[in-house]
Amino acid sequence: MAVLDIALMGNPILARPAAPVEDPTDPQVSELVANMLETMVAAHGVGLAAPQVKQGLQLVVFEVPAERLAEGRALPLTVLFNPVIEALDEAMDEAYEACLSVPGLTGRVPRWRHIGYRGLGVDGKVIEREAIGFHARVVQHECDHLLGRLYLTRMPDLASLAYGQELRRLVQAEGEGL
Ligand code: NI
Repeated sequence: MAVLDIALMGNPILARPAAPVEDPTDPQVSELVANMLETMVAAHGVGLAAPQVKQGLQLVVFEVPAERLAEGRALPLTVLFNPVIEALDEAMDEAYEACLSVPGLTGRVPRWRHIGYRGLGVDGKVIEREAIGFHARVVQHECDHLLGRLYLTRMPDLASLAYGQELRRLVQAEGEGL
């Protein structure tokens, strides 16, 4: 296994649509998955998409810790190939997002609150789930990478774009959590 180099904003692979994966059980694909998981952990990310490690494939990995979820249930480590998302109602939430390909920055992005998503797992079997809140946000953010979209292109107002370090400093000064 290896920690992979992360493509930063400006790398054309981040702006290109990714290709479907024909066989998730292919050994080369399994090696890519193992390396992406190691890279995500090393970078302290909650999600990573294959274009971020310079592979133009429809593959995302994510793991959501319990403390990030309103429902209080952790989302287990998920590997998803060829994902498709649909909004299950009209409601949207706006919250801060960050991205390993845009280090240091954070900005407010509207996302569907309640979605269904479907794709293939590492064993090639169908994974089909519903997601709300932060779980739904992570899935939408990662799947956007497969469309060649970074969160900045979903921001209705670039005025909320900020350095995370600066926001944390302000929050600490006010003595409340972000
Ligand atoms: Ni990202």
